[in-house]
Amino acid sequence: MTKKVFEFDDDLVVNRLGYGTMQLPGKGVWGPNSDPKNAVAVVDAVLNSDVNFIDTADAYGPWFANLYLKQALQNYQGAHKMIATKVGFTRQGPNQWTVLGNPAYLRQQVELNLFSLGLEQLDLVQLHRIDPDYPLADQLGVLADLQHEGKIKHIGLSQVSVAQLEAARQIVPIVSVQNRYNLIDRSDEDVLAYAQENHLAFIPWFPLATGELAEAGGVLANIAAIHHATPAQISLAWLLQRADVILPIPGTANAAHFFSNAAAANITLSEAEMTALTDLSDE
Ligand SMILES: NC(=O)c1ccc[n+]([C@@H]2O[C@H](COP(=O)([O-])OP(=O)(O)OC[C@H]3O[C@@H](n4cnc5c(N)ncnc54)[C@H](OP(=O)(O)O)[C@@H]3O)[C@@H](O)[C@H]2O)c1
Repeated sequence: MTKKVFEFDDDLVVNRLGYGTMQLPGKGVWGPNSDPKNAVAVVDAVLNSDVNFIDTADAYGPWFANLYLKQALQNYQGAHKMIATKVGFTRQGPNQWTVLGNPAYLRQQVELNLFSLGLEQLDLVQLHRIDPDYPLADQLGVLADLQHEGKIKHIGLSQVSVAQLEAARQIVPIVSVQNRYNLIDRSDEDVLAYAQENHLAFIPWFPLATGELAEAGGVLANIAAIHHATPAQISLAWLLQRADVILPIPGTANAAHFFSNAAAANITLSEAEMTALTDLSDE
């Protein structure tokens, strides 16, 4: 039986279908959205839905995604939403991303995430990438210090191997791993298996293969037709049924797409459908 929720701890239990903010800034994840009011309205819709796990990063914009999220959070009166952010990238322009794991920079980014989100504590801070130019113990050490100071609740990693996960877990407790994974890109099956064995949240980025899966035909479209659903919804339903530790975070700057994606949580795929979809892997 597929579990609908993931328990980070006794107080932090989230619905497994989340939302990612990376589509909110301008083109190339750079600068403001051409329609900032709409960006905030999309986050309003997210906050007022059952979705209670939101993934963001200071690098998105940079800052614009966090600022839209902050604006929506300030108007929101409901139950707690888990906010997961990331640190460890610098930005130079559209589609330009440069890793920086200098512990002083990571500390600054945690403080600026708190400020830009208007929060006193970050539920989850993920190291966006491990920087090979700094010792892993120093990059995670500063996050552990911030955790002891109460500024971070949980620590996670992004785009790592099983060996890196194991090394990190020797240094500090890790609750999550965010790697690229979707119906047609399964290169990190070993990391998913490790997450399952160790009850780590596995947060697949590009869950819709950046929208490619929304356009798909073939088996995906046929199964979608049977469920009166869209290919995007079936791709998300497949992720949710694939493993109980998976928390997909589809990104969109379109409220209608958000509602459609969120409804994927209500789809149950048969065993035969799961097998047919799983066999689509390019691996
Ligand atoms: N850790 C990392 O290194 C990393 C890297 C990349 C992303 N992420 C995280 O993962 C999240 C998801 O990744 P992503 O947003 O890049 O890719 P994605 O979720 O795979 O796909 C987003 C794309 O699909 C489109 N889309 C979304 N829902 C749709 C629907 N129902 N119908 C048709 N098109 C739809 C979006 O356009 P519209 O806006 O028009 O809907 C957008 O172009 C990000 O938001 C971010 O939080 C993390």
